[in-house]
Amino acid sequence: MTNRVVVGAQWGDEGKAKITDLLAENADLIIRYQGGCNAGHTVVAHNKTFKFHLIPSGILYKGKTCFIGNGTVVLPEYFQQEIEGLKKENIDISGLKVSPLASITMPWHTEVDGYSEDNATKGKIGTTKKGIGPTYTDKMQRIGLKIGDLYSPEALSEKLDVILPVKNKQLKELYNLKTYTKEEVLDLCKKYAEIFRPFVCHEWQDMLRDAKRENKTILFEGAQGVMLDVDFGTYPFVTSSNPVGGGACTGSGYGPKVIDEVIGVAKAYVTRVGEGPFVTELTDETGKKIQDIGHEFGVTTGRPRRCGWFDAVTMKYSCLVGGLTSVALTKIDVFDTFDEIKICTAYKDKRNGKTYTSYPEDVFIHKYLEPVYETHKGWGVNISDIRKYEDLPENCRKYIERLEQILETPISIISVGPDREQTIFRTNL
Ligand code: IMP
Repeated sequence: MTNRVVVGAQWGDEGKAKITDLLAENADLIIRYQGGCNAGHTVVAHNKTFKFHLIPSGILYKGKTCFIGNGTVVLPEYFQQEIEGLKKENIDISGLKVSPLASITMPWHTEVDGYSEDNATKGKIGTTKKGIGPTYTDKMQRIGLKIGDLYSPEALSEKLDVILPVKNKQLKELYNLKTYTKEEVLDLCKKYAEIFRPFVCHEWQDMLRDAKRENKTILFEGAQGVMLDVDFGTYPFVTSSNPVGGGACTGSGYGPKVIDEVIGVAKAYVTRVGEGPFVTELTDETGKKIQDIGHEFGVTTGRPRRCGWFDAVTMKYSCLVGGLTSVALTKIDVFDTFDEIKICTAYKDKRNGKTYTSYPEDVFIHKYLEPVYETHKGWGVNISDIRKYEDLPENCRKYIERLEQILETPISIISVGPDREQTIFRTNL
């Protein structure tokens, strides 16, 4: 009955899927609270590899309710593809529900995202081109469509009368892109209504109330990571939602007191896809070695991930703003063959020698920052079969305990490989 949020504590791709998958086993209700199909979660189960973008991976367990919350943005065709993929594998999807308040990614959102990325000469973000930013932009501008609108012909018609003149003007004048007639959009919306019909949960309020009253175990599944949060991340090189622990409330319909723990998932090193500052990035052989051993290529876009040493400056910040109560450290086995492992404990400004131990939120100075490292000895043995903390090599434990000391946050889970069993729990979950 412990309700937990799982958040990415770095720039996404920390191995959240494995941790949520482990925790989903004992959860009754699993809620995805932000983002859209920009996420890519890989889970190995039933001797198969499943790649999820939007649907909570908890769907792989029978009898769970998986709810795509109001804070998400849903690209209907992608959602349909994911459903079809699961059906093909005979996965029971009867527990899947979608909030009528979730926003719809319309074709113009993906078109604008693609256009902006392809034509940016300056300030390119490196988005996934899945229309995420433009969908959230329209939500905030109050010219977005929500899934519930698809089932209310009068509201839909009235909304389109407001939305389309604005949208078409933008599409034509700002982007020189195709415009849309009302008939075209109504036809699309009819199609979308059918895609979502079996899943849209008009009774979501009762569902949340019942789960709370009956002390059900709730798991909130975050996507992306704290450093990609639109408020706290390396803005503007961020996604357009709130992956932080607090996002679980605004994106689900539950208040903060429902949440008992926030587990931040962090790799033993750091990766990033897309543009943006990354002080500990390694562009040398060591970075390549991490990328090769860690198989660091994006699930959604296939892009190679940038790799670097563990950045305790951003991670300390992430513990604070992400609201982390503990950390799940993943992929530490990637270092099994490393003689030395580094932790960045501070940043130093090359221009004036100023040292930062707290994260400097003005990301435009990050290009002047260099990492200050402390070096730890490697352990030189394969740890992927170890299941007890005490059995880890001393140097590995020293590394973990040093991280805990800097972060002032306990490391509750250590992942030493992709399989469910390759996990060391330091507390009872
Ligand atoms: P968007 O979310 O597609 O708008 O992309 C904005 C930034 O977030 C880009 O740097 C993306 O590479 C990054 N991003 C979005 N989703 C993920 C993810 O699931 N993992 C890692 N990075 C992501």
